[in-house]
Amino acid sequence: MSENKRASFGGKLSVVLVAAGSAIGLGAIWRFPYIAGKHGGAAFLLVFLISVFAVGIPTMLAEFAVGRRTRKNAVGAFRSLSKRWSWLGYNGVLGALLISGYYYIIAGWSLEYMVASATNMLYSSPLSFTEQFNEFQGSWRPLFYAAMFILLTHIIIARGVEKGIEKASRIMMPALFIILIIMAVRVAFMPGAMEGYRFFLSPNFEEAFAPETIMMAIGQAFFSLSVGMGCMVTYASYFKKDNNLVQTSCNVALLTLLVSLLAGLVIFPAVFSAGLQPAEGPSLIFVTLPEIFKDIPFAALWSTVFFLLVTLASLTSTISFHEVLTAYLAEEFKISRRWAARLVSLASVLLSALTLSLVFDIDFLGIKMAGATLVDVFDYLSANIVMPVGALFTCVLASWVMDRSFVKDELSNRGVLKSRVIPVVVFMLRYVTPLLILYIFLRNLGIL
Ligand code: PFF
Repeated sequence: MSENKRASFGGKLSVVLVAAGSAIGLGAIWRFPYIAGKHGGAAFLLVFLISVFAVGIPTMLAEFAVGRRTRKNAVGAFRSLSKRWSWLGYNGVLGALLISGYYYIIAGWSLEYMVASATNMLYSSPLSFTEQFNEFQGSWRPLFYAAMFILLTHIIIARGVEKGIEKASRIMMPALFIILIIMAVRVAFMPGAMEGYRFFLSPNFEEAFAPETIMMAIGQAFFSLSVGMGCMVTYASYFKKDNNLVQTSCNVALLTLLVSLLAGLVIFPAVFSAGLQPAEGPSLIFVTLPEIFKDIPFAALWSTVFFLLVTLASLTSTISFHEVLTAYLAEEFKISRRWAARLVSLASVLLSALTLSLVFDIDFLGIKMAGATLVDVFDYLSANIVMPVGALFTCVLASWVMDRSFVKDELSNRGVLKSRVIPVVVFMLRYVTPLLILYIFLRNLGIL
């Protein structure tokens, strides 16, 4: 596609909504409350907040700068800055493939639970929710719903950047906020909710500054803000020259923090109200929340609304990593966008089928997992290897390898915007962010 024919997102609001749509997903609604629960509640929240500002926002800005300057897919973007750095684009493509291998499956669970709630099957079954979850896992349905999710994502992607991604985000993101706020208010009236608030909101500072908590918080910041795998590079390639990048990244980060907080305020009071465990793992929302809903009037309705919310949030995230792959194939191999999208969707179905069919034990490089599935493996590889590597080297490229004025020029729209934040970001990108990432990366690998 030539420079002037390339699609772009509309106004300021759309740019924030599409990027926030990518960021807000399973990471904020499921992963955040669960990890916060395990690592000191409010204390984790504080470290996560610091990580978002110290690592997440600067990395997102480096990706925005690379994407908008080059207006290309992830591989093309890095290559056009420097041939030797095109591997960073492939790192992103690899990350998007790894995430495609498991994210659709979990997103498919929420679709299945939405349908099972809407048809009242979930609440009329004689089986317990745990039995229903296990029975569901052992059936053909996870693959069916993952495939349905891929189909939904495909339809939006195939409609293109403006009509598909932008329009979907404009409708889905506000809907998500409204549903979450209603849920948070509803949950506040449940008996025992106070204990949940205490658990989620009373800080334990000793735990907050434990190295493991810091590692988990920085990892959560990568995953949740969709940085380190070319996703924000690809999205920023559709931004306009006058979009304010600093403002956009701060808005995206604040919205992600807000949804994470709201998700915690929905889930913890609800879990405690039913006397359940907050550190339940992948089944948390699928087993414990129906348990809670069943005792309140209109259980099926609340449950449908909640899983609709998870589905919508996941959908605006799946379209973003699908787009990384679609834009890569379409532009690098000069095939039509339609065909590129078809190939990516097909690969996603095959990868999901592979993930669902393999279970094994891992005992490798200090990682021990019994009964692991590719969900665990893909999650580990993407969050702990691909994303930190991608983020670290994107910061290094943008602030050390490129001309000194590269980041400053892009963030100020070539001198048009004057902001005292820009020199701070430039400093962070050169020194603070890469060192912090290097630290968690080496710790994750057990080297430090
Ligand atoms: N940020 C998404 C979430 O929190 O669910 C996940 C994600 C989307 C990660 C896109 C990376 C990405 F490129």
